[in-house]
Amino acid sequence: MTKFLVGKVSDISDGNMTHLTAGGQEILVANVKGNYYAIGNICNHAGAELHEGELNDKEITCPWHGAKWDITTGNLVWFPQKLKSAGSYPIIIENEMIYVDVH
Ligand code: FES
Repeated sequence: MTKFLVGKVSDISDGNMTHLTAGGQEILVANVKGNYYAIGNICNHAGAELHEGELNDKEITCPWHGAKWDITTGNLVWFPQKLKSAGSYPIIIENEMIYVDVH
């Protein structure tokens, strides 16, 4: 396990997101109703950064061509073609700080 600091729990309120590079991976971290999730931040269609998209509940919509991704799993929810999962990463909360486990 390699733990990377994302920020304070209070820095990402419900419905908001942040992004970071950790262990060579581009990662998006989002708060959905008080639960934190981390998925790959790069859209597997043409490389958009998903943190620039719109988060609605558990779905993030890619800002370029509208692919919808499940923030809880990194899996594709909707797009005209099949796309590889963005991948997901475990979140660790310790002492009001958020960490992501990049392995
Ligand atoms: S780059 Fe995300 S849908 Fe095209």
